[in-house]
Amino acid sequence: MAFSGTRSLSLFRTNKAVVQHAASRSSSWWSGVEMGPPDAILGVTEAFKRDTNPKKMNLGVGAYRDDSGKPFVLPSVRKAEELIVSQKLDKEYAPISGLADYCRASIDLALGEGNPWVADGLNATVQGISGTGALRIGTAFLSKFFPGPKVAHLPAPTWGNHIPLFKHVNMDVQQYRYYDPKTCGYDFAGAMEDISNIPEGSLIVLHACAHNPTGVDPKKEQWDEMSALIKKKNLLPFFDMAYQGFASGSVDQDAYAVRKFLQDGHRILLSQSFSKNMGLYGERAGVFSVVCQDQEEAARVMSQLKILIRPLYSNPPIHGARIVKTILNDKDLRAEWMVDVKGMADRIISMRSKLKSNLEKEGSTKDWSHIVDQIGMFCFTGMTPPQVEKLTKEYSVYLTKDGRISVAGVCSGNVEYLAHAMHQVTK
Ligand code: LMR
Repeated sequence: MAFSGTRSLSLFRTNKAVVQHAASRSSSWWSGVEMGPPDAILGVTEAFKRDTNPKKMNLGVGAYRDDSGKPFVLPSVRKAEELIVSQKLDKEYAPISGLADYCRASIDLALGEGNPWVADGLNATVQGISGTGALRIGTAFLSKFFPGPKVAHLPAPTWGNHIPLFKHVNMDVQQYRYYDPKTCGYDFAGAMEDISNIPEGSLIVLHACAHNPTGVDPKKEQWDEMSALIKKKNLLPFFDMAYQGFASGSVDQDAYAVRKFLQDGHRILLSQSFSKNMGLYGERAGVFSVVCQDQEEAARVMSQLKILIRPLYSNPPIHGARIVKTILNDKDLRAEWMVDVKGMADRIISMRSKLKSNLEKEGSTKDWSHIVDQIGMFCFTGMTPPQVEKLTKEYSVYLTKDGRISVAGVCSGNVEYLAHAMHQVTK
């Protein structure tokens, strides 16, 4: 076939560009770098930002919004910041392990004021770069020092970032049954059976409260039985506590499992985050602790945690930690913060019931009781990947592919729209 002169010239130019591109690609240092997929959770926010639909909703990432859909800075946090600014503090480096009084206040929040483990000096506690950073210190420590199999036993499903956190340190991941899609609740029998088959002396990861992504937690009696079984099998429990206060509205009730396991004689690992319960997302305030056998062991563990942290990021940021310790160490501010946490938890609970009743008003005949039964920030709706895709494409409602919605992103102004959209894709 003959081409016109202009056409063949432009084809030649295009081909030349392709050839040059290929040549420059193969001669580049990074020619072997493949395009990676967007993050399963934070990638949803990127897609949401590109959408121009005024009705769009971001229910992907777990980030609390007020009832007008706006990011929320807790009044107790604002007050703590004013106090900090008025003190005209310096900006010197924190120690490698972080601010000591922040670490102390945080571990006390988890284990309870006056708890015996901190009183006896059994904890090696360091500041982490929020929950992920705290977990990352933990996985680095485990990959170097855990004497058992280098395998983490995680619930199925689990938070999307848990698996890469262990894979990054070359640990394997296995999953025990946790969520039962038939009941949209906790598969206690399945979990107990799978845990009883985990090899003795292994590592088990547990969500302390407000399980992410399912919003399904074991009941107290179930935690008690799990603790006994995990003790019998001599497993090392690693608790991830990213939502203390968000499940029940009470920081003490939400710490039930962590405290119960310690009372039962477990030595635990614990990561904590203040992203959600203080709304300090971008401040990256977290904590990692190892509860040890005795003080001497805690000192050895602490020395190694510092050796791991130093080449990772040297030492942690100070502003978020200052906010946390100011709130926790001031009686009035702490009381005010408790009210703030309860307020956030209650608003989420009220959105759960509004979503359910609006789905019923839309005429949905599906059983949506799990929306109100599940707790914490998330609802594992049971929507399938094609339904999720339709919800995003046709209604600009953004959520993770597994059907998880962040109820914290729903507000009075958009709950009806959400119910309508959910009914349309599920009817
Ligand atoms: C979430 O699950 O949405 C949050 O924990 C945020 C994150 O970092 O993934």
